[in-house]
Amino acid sequence: MVPAPGRGPARPIPTVIDCDPGHDDAIALLLAVASPFIDLRAVTTTFGNCSVADATRNALRILTLAGATEIPVGRGAAGSLAGTTELGNYVHGKRGLDGPDLAEPGFEVSGLPAVELIERVLADADEPVTLIATGPITNVATLLQRHVADRSRIREIIFMGGSVDRGNHTPTAEFNTYADPEALAVVLGSGLPVRMVGLNLTHQALATPEVVARMRAMDHHVGHVAAEWMGFFGSSYRAIWEFAAPPVHDPCTVAALIRPELIEWRRCFVAVETKGEWTRGTTVVDLHDRYHRPPNADVALTLDVGGYWDLVLGAIDTLGKGR
Ligand code: RIB
Ligand code: CA
Repeated sequence: MVPAPGRGPARPIPTVIDCDPGHDDAIALLLAVASPFIDLRAVTTTFGNCSVADATRNALRILTLAGATEIPVGRGAAGSLAGTTELGNYVHGKRGLDGPDLAEPGFEVSGLPAVELIERVLADADEPVTLIATGPITNVATLLQRHVADRSRIREIIFMGGSVDRGNHTPTAEFNTYADPEALAVVLGSGLPVRMVGLNLTHQALATPEVVARMRAMDHHVGHVAAEWMGFFGSSYRAIWEFAAPPVHDPCTVAALIRPELIEWRRCFVAVETKGEWTRGTTVVDLHDRYHRPPNADVALTLDVGGYWDLVLGAIDTLGKGR
C-alpha cells in the first residue's frame, strides 16, 4: 500500500536497490545515497542495459563517485529466468554507462552474489526491507522463489517496469519487463505489497535543457557528471524514439519511496504477457477493473514533475558539495 504522505519517512527505510546501471539507474543510486530517508543496505546488479559484468563495474564506479564505498555490491543475474539475455547497450552505450569517464572503483564487488546478499540484508535487518528494482527483475524473482514461505522480511517491492499504455523496447513492451516477463509474473503473483512505476509515469520525468542546466550550474564534479550522462542518454532517446529530452525513469522509484505524495497512485490488477507472439513482456494494467480480479499492485499514474526534479537535483547537489 502507498505510505502516508509527508515530507519523508519518519526514519531511514532499510532498502536494497537491484539495478542495471545504466544512466538513469545511476541517478537513482545518487538519489538513494544522498537521501536521509533511505538506509541503502546493498546494491545488486543484473543484466539489462548492459551485461551484468558491466552493470557491476558501473555500480562500483557510481557508488565511488557518490562517496558510498561502504555499500556492498552483489553481482546478479546474467540472463532471465527463461535463459535469454536481452541487452540495452543500444541505448546506454558499449559499457552501459557511456559518456563521461569515471574514476576507478574505490572498492571491490561483494563476495556474496546478488540474491545471497539480499538474503543477508533481510536476515540482518531489524525491520522489513524495501526492495527497489530498476532493471529486469530476475534477482528479486529468484529470491522470492527461494523463500516462498517467509517473505515477512520484505516491506514492499517498488519496480520500474511495464506501462499502462505503450512500450519502448517493443511497441507494447517496456524493456525491463520484456527482458524477463516470467520474473515480473513471479513478483506480481507474490502477494507482497508491490508498486509499479511504468513508462506512463517515467515519461513525465524528462531531463529538459532547463534540468540539465541546473545540473551544470551546481559547479561540482557530481553535477557535471550527471549532466554529461543526460547528454549521452538524451542523444539515444532523440535518435531512437525522437524524444526532445530523455525520460529519467529509475529515480522515480526512489522518489516514490521518499515522497509517495509526488505521485498519484491507483490500486489495480496487473498482469504481464509471457506468451504473445507480438506482445511478450507487455503489462496489462486493469485501471477500470474490467477483469474483476483482485488488485495486486499500486500503479503510478501522475508525477509532480517540479517536486521530482527538486528532489533529484537537491540530492545531486548534496553529494557534489560533500565530495
Ligand atoms: O525501459 C526503461 C528501463 O529499462 C529503465 O530502467 C532503464 O534503465 C532500463 O533498465
Ligand atoms: Ca534500469
